[in-house]
Amino acid sequence: MKFFIDTANLAQIKEANELGILDGVTTNPSLMAKEGIKGEEAIAKHYKTICEIVDGDISAEVLSTDFNTIVEEGKKLAAIHPNIIVKVPMIKDGVKAIKWFTDNGIKTNCTLVFSAGQAILAAKAGATYVSPFIGRIDDSSWDGVELIAQIAHIYALQEFDTQILAASIRNALHIVKCAEAGADVCTCPLESILGLLKHPLTDIGLAKFLEDAKKM
Ligand code: E4P
Repeated sequence: MKFFIDTANLAQIKEANELGILDGVTTNPSLMAKEGIKGEEAIAKHYKTICEIVDGDISAEVLSTDFNTIVEEGKKLAAIHPNIIVKVPMIKDGVKAIKWFTDNGIKTNCTLVFSAGQAILAAKAGATYVSPFIGRIDDSSWDGVELIAQIAHIYALQEFDTQILAASIRNALHIVKCAEAGADVCTCPLESILGLLKHPLTDIGLAKFLEDAKKM
């Protein structure tokens, strides 16, 4: 399973990258706004900087919702760097645009996916990645991990090439459960990635080893 970090914060991206386990980055308009990135030029510059830090797939989301503008915007995003993946929302014009990008050699990430039906449509349109938002599903009292397992089952059965990118990860357990359920990628906040490191017995064991090492 690939690890992406879900942030537009450069310090966090660098920290995760230095761990040596990072395969890519996902951003969205909320994450970009959080970093104070405003205007077409600043947005493009920020994506370019991320691409220079991480050697992997970098999702950059379109801000439009109609076919022609999504295509124009996506072409500009894709031109920023060869590793840019154009992130397109799961709407009617979004699906049409994903098909256009697929036919024109531009990789895509279909975002805001909350059902297996939507995941089937994204795969049919040729999306490189499909992003089910598991944390938001859990928030609405459904089981996000179950959706990952359902999509993984369908994609395997139907031999779809689209990769399942588990998104809206809230904690380290989500990452483990998504790996079990067959996600190809998990995009996570830095805190959830670092959460995987933690176990109290590791801390206790290390403290004891370090104490005993003084007697060596
Ligand atoms: C995915 O690509 C999204 O950026 C993200 O995972 C959304 O997560 P949230 O539900 O924590 O906003």
